[in-house]
This record gives sequence, C-alpha cells and structure tokens, in this order.
Amino acid sequence: MIKTARILLAGAAAMALAGCATAQAQPAATTTSTNAVPIRQAEPEWARLDPEMDAFLDELIAKMTLQEKVGQLTLLTSDWESTGPTMREGYKQDIAAGRVGAIFNAYTAKYTRELQQMAVEGTRLGIPLLFGYDVIHGHRTIFPISLGEAASWDLEAIEKSARVSAQEASAEGIHWTFSPMVDIARDARWGRISEGAGEDVFLGSEIARARVRGYQGEDLGATDTVLATAKHFAAYGAAQAGRDYHTVDISERTLRDIYLPPFKAAVDEGVATFMTSFNEYDGIPASGSKFLLTDVLRHEWGFDGFVVTDYTSINEMVPHGYSKDLVQAGEQAIDAGVDMDMQGAVYMENLAKSVEEGRVDIERIDEAVRRILEMKYRLGLFEDPYRYSDQARQDATLYRPDFLEAARDVARKSMVLLKNEGDALPLTAQAQSIAVIGPLGNSKTDMIGSWSAAGDRQTRPVTILEGLQARAGEGVTVEYAKGASYAFEDEGETDGFAEAIALAEKADVVIAAMGERWDMTGEAASRTSLDLPGNQQALLEKLVATGKPVILVVLSGRPNTITWANENVPAILHAWYPGTQGGHAVADVLFGDYNPSGKLPVTFPRVVGQSPIHYDMKNTGRPIELGAPGAKYVSRYLNTPNDPLYRFGYGLSYTTFGYSPVTLSASSMGPEGSITASATITNTGDRAGEEVVQLYVRDLVGSVTRPVQELKGFEKIMLQSGEARAVSFTLRPEDLAFTRADMSHGWEPGEFQLWIAPSSGAKASTPVTFTITE
Ligand code: BGC
Repeated sequence: MIKTARILLAGAAAMALAGCATAQAQPAATTTSTNAVPIRQAEPEWARLDPEMDAFLDELIAKMTLQEKVGQLTLLTSDWESTGPTMREGYKQDIAAGRVGAIFNAYTAKYTRELQQMAVEGTRLGIPLLFGYDVIHGHRTIFPISLGEAASWDLEAIEKSARVSAQEASAEGIHWTFSPMVDIARDARWGRISEGAGEDVFLGSEIARARVRGYQGEDLGATDTVLATAKHFAAYGAAQAGRDYHTVDISERTLRDIYLPPFKAAVDEGVATFMTSFNEYDGIPASGSKFLLTDVLRHEWGFDGFVVTDYTSINEMVPHGYSKDLVQAGEQAIDAGVDMDMQGAVYMENLAKSVEEGRVDIERIDEAVRRILEMKYRLGLFEDPYRYSDQARQDATLYRPDFLEAARDVARKSMVLLKNEGDALPLTAQAQSIAVIGPLGNSKTDMIGSWSAAGDRQTRPVTILEGLQARAGEGVTVEYAKGASYAFEDEGETDGFAEAIALAEKADVVIAAMGERWDMTGEAASRTSLDLPGNQQALLEKLVATGKPVILVVLSGRPNTITWANENVPAILHAWYPGTQGGHAVADVLFGDYNPSGKLPVTFPRVVGQSPIHYDMKNTGRPIELGAPGAKYVSRYLNTPNDPLYRFGYGLSYTTFGYSPVTLSASSMGPEGSITASATITNTGDRAGEEVVQLYVRDLVGSVTRPVQELKGFEKIMLQSGEARAVSFTLRPEDLAFTRADMSHGWEPGEFQLWIAPSSGAKASTPVTFTITE
C-alpha cells in the first residue's frame, strides 16, 4: 500500500526521487526539457487526500467533473507510431486540457516525462497519465515472436522474456503493455497466429500465466514491472477463412472450451487489464458484448482490473451494423463493460452528453474511472508520477548484455528441427565452405518479426549470415547470395538464380534461408496460400538439383506448406523470427552448440485447403480409419491425406529418446481422487538433449462429443546421453472438465484413455485406460 502521495512537490527532493539528480528546476512554462521537474507553486489536488487507496480514490473521484472522468476513460496514441487506421490530431492539447488519461506509442524517459508534466502540472487535478505500448516479444532487445517462444514449451524462458521486456519498457517510461495476446489460433491463414501461443488450450493457458507473471512480477508498484493485458477478448482467432477482422461464428461451447481458458488463466494469474477484440461474437461486436465483458469476465471470473477496447472498435460497431451512430456505440460499449476507449475518442466526444441526458448512469462511469485510477495508484503514480521516467535507469537498462544473452537463449530454444535425414545437421568440420542463400539469409529488417515495439530493425539484429560467420571456425568460408525474393510479385523472376546456383555449386553445404517477409504475418496479414512466397520455391528446387546438401532454415510467423521441401530437402529448421540475436541462435543450432528442443505449438498443414486444422479434432461419425484405404463415404479429401505435414507437439533433436510404457497409480478415481501416470524417458542417442514429454488424454464418451486427444500436461527435461528419468503427471477429475450438454462446466464419470508421448502424432497403439467413478 502506498502511503506517501506527497513527494513530487518538494523541488530538489522530487528530482532526486524521480531519478534526475542533475536536472535544474525550471519554471512550469518551459516544460519541454528532458528531466526537469519544475517546482510547483501549488500541490495537485490529489496530494492532500487520504493516502490509503480506497479513501484516496473515493475522495479523488468526488472531486472530479464529469468531463474529467470521461478523460480518464480515454486512451490516445502519440504521433510517434500508428498501429491502426485513424490518427487523431492534437493529443498534446488533449493532455493539457485533461481530456485524456492514458497515452500509447510514446516512450523514452524523456518523452514520457515531458507528456507527464503536461498532465500533472497543466491540468486542474493533475492526475498522472498512464503510458501503454505494444511490448509483445521484447521492447528494445527483441526476443523471438510469441509463437516462436511458445515452441520452446519452456515456461521459465517465456516468463524471463516477459520479465526482460518489462524491465526495458518500464525503464523508458512505459507502465502498461498490450500483451499477452492469448488468442487460440488454428488457422494459419490468419496472420495474427504469429502473436499468440498457438492452437492449444492447455499450452496456451500455461503460457498466458507465464507471461503475466513475467510482466507484472510480484509487485505492480515496483518500477521494473508493468501492467499486462489479456487480449483480444474474445475468439478473435476464429475469424472465418482466416481473414483478419472477419466474422466469428462459433458455439458457446467451443468459445468456453477452446477460446476462453487462456483468458481465465490470465485472470487467475492476476492480469491487470483486458482488451476487447475487433470481431463479433454471436452477432454482437466484442466491444458491445455484455455477455463477454460483464457476465463472463466480471460475474463468472471476478476480474477486477479494467477493460480497454482494441483500437477504434467502439467506432467500428457502426460499420458492423450494431450501432446507428457513435453516440449509441459509446453507450452500448460503456454499458457492456468497456472502461477505456482506445483511440476512437467516442467516449471523449459523446459520453458526457449521454450521462447528462440520462442514457448512461454516472455510477457506471465512476466504476470505470475507479478501476483505471486504481491501477495508476497501484503503479505508484500518485506517489511519484515520474517514477518510471528515469533517464539514468533507461541508460543502464536497455540492451543489457544479460538481456541479449537471454534473447539468444530463448531464440535457440524456440527453433524446431522438422527434418534431419542422414544426420545432415549439425554441421561438421567437413563443411569448409558454406553458402547462405535466400532473401532471409542476410536481412536485419526481417529478423525481429512484426509487433517488435521499439526494436531496431536497421543495425542491431544479427543476421543468419553474420551469426554463421561469427561461429564458423578459421578457414571456413561463409558466403552469401540473395538469389530469390519473397515479394509476391516476383513469383516468375529468375534474375538472381544464376549467382546463387554458382555459389551453391562451389560450397560444401547450402543454407537456404527462406520464408516470409516480417510483415506477412501479424495484424492485417492474412494469406490464402501458405507456400513460400515469391520465387523462393523455384530457387529451392534448383539448389536441391545441384546435388549439394541443402539445409532449409525457415523464417516465418506461421506454418508454411513446405510439403515439397519435406520430401526433397534433407534438413529443415523452423526458426520463426528469432529476434535481435537470431543469427547467433541459428548458428548455435546449426553447429550443434545447442541441441534443438522446440516442438510445434501449431499443426502444419500439407496444403492450405486443410485449414483450419488442429490436433484435437473430433472423431466424427465416419472417421477415416473406418474405411479401407481410399474408401468413399468416410471423412476425407479426394486428393490429400487428412494428416497434416507436421503435427502439434512435433520436433526433432540431435539425439533420440525412448519412452517406456505408461504406468498408472490406480485404474480409477472418485470425485475427490487423483491418478498419477508415469513413464520413463531415456536418452537413447549419443548427445545430451532436452525433451518435451507430453501427456494426452481422450475422454471416450461424453454427454457431448469429445476431441480425439487433448494435451493435459507437459514437462521439459534435460537428459545426458544414456540417462533415463521417470516423468509423472497427476490428474484430478477437474482437469478433465468441459462444457457439458447442459452448459455446466465439469467432468463426467466414464472411461478415459491416456498416453505419454513425444508429440500429438505418437498415440501409443495401446494407451492405458482409467475411469472416473461417480
Ligand atoms: C491491435 C492490438 C494493439 C492495438 C494498439 C490494434 O490494432 O489489434 O493488438 O494492441 O492496435 O496498438
């Protein structure tokens, strides 16, 4: 609890506490300098209030005019960056006039201090601003894209990435990140699949928790933690045909069993804020959905933070055809449970009138204001509004060597070895001459992927070529030719081919670095093809035709249909967009300094027509196994197998692992009971390595149909060559809960199958069975 809401008033003392020991006191009129905190002539209103939080908030809200309250419900972007279609001019005037309570896309100690000063010293009540930003996978030191991090299945590493992001962002004045994105995504056409943790409910929920822990730490009042945001609420990943912002039409059961659990996990972990989504759910845009924002979020889950819209999603309720104008949209949004309006200025322009004319209750406004002010209070902004805007801390924090090392570590852990025929990898001493070929082989811009916050795309990222050159031993040559292009319009081009083929022909090994341009995934980046774009496939075929060993390193934010490569290229490494240290991490894996341990958090289809595809499908009444090969009248395609190219949970290592049969502690459990399943995993290869051991369960009969398999546990273990370890998972009936026929949430008695495996494709031929008794 913060007890001292007093310090910014005391001139020099305030400067010292605000981390600006060398700043000179200046008159309030000249507020553009960096660290200068002018001596106020008068205390802000709130400095004289009871410092105990509840009393403080009561007293402050009692002093606020309706316009000031609406100001606190308004979030506007600065003009530093644009992350959406509209840009409202004049945010500084809005700050000075008290019309805005929070700003995004503004950072650095200097700039946040400058804007903060305008709010604290220039407005009647001096309420500090809240600074938000999309710190998604790193702030300055960029980690792998979120989907890549998920492929590590390493919760500690993922939490560490969020922790470092919070340390860097908060050192530049940021209080609040619009992360984690916890949308389940099962359709690789949807570009935002890159921003989440993949297709699975269990893995996604664990990762949601890890990220919230990493951002928020133990104490929101510590200056190196930030508020986290669970987004986009809800079901945004279920956009029809994978087209961004498109309609979502799923059952409430699917919503509750698949799309909501990671959000619930974030609430349980204490996430401070929620962001709505752009899509509709059951015919109602999410920002107008009382069902989602009040019934589920507040009443069922007891969430007590605040809800912000995604960008202009209140305004968008007009084109959705849900609101006749912005006045009505604002009323519907506040009524549904939206506390803060991002960038749309609908609340700013209309809400006061709606209250005055009796269409919105002032109590609802006060509730929203209170939730937002409470976060400001908990951040310590009423103790010292400048406490996060500290130039000295910023200088000492950004790009710290241990942060760069952490980014490299997470990057190599995120990479998934998809194929390694004839032990093509790791590279051996025989590889005296290495040809790096492809548009992603030496591209700094692409290494850090989309939504890379304040990440530097020009100078900092280590490319694959640079990483390999830095690692290659003396006398080894590493040369580069771009060869191909990922631009869609270059599909028929062959201009660079000759140079690339010539380089390949004189090399001992070819590293083909191919995939997608960094902005081909992320927001508004849906595709109807998942093939390698441009003329990369054509060049890849030519490189393979040279007869040289080709290693394909894919940089991409989504599953790609690399079906030809899977048949024709000896080794494939999926490296996502690996971040600032990406080139070093690729070299670590290719040279075997790090033994790859990533497993896919999403299914890779063979062809785009299999989308959406995921490992936990339902069986149907006509599963393909019921028919003879090629049989008609079973659930299959005429021209493509049902199986994907690579399954969820799949990934190779430079060593091999053996799994013993599973043993169960009991063959049945009652309502209060539990069962422990164990298997012994042995490293049967000749080098140390990590394995992600996965527990799958099938509920054989339910009051509604159940998936053919569901992940219910995983553990990542390190085994030396020859080492064996028993891995155990304990299940209770509630771990097997789902939305039953009557829409209640719970488990059902009956029979279950269980197996422990290296991927979702490895269902044991004889899974063990157990029952839950009534
Ligand atoms: C995105 C959000 C993001 C917001 C602010 C929107 O377009 O959907 O994920 O947090 O912009 O940049």
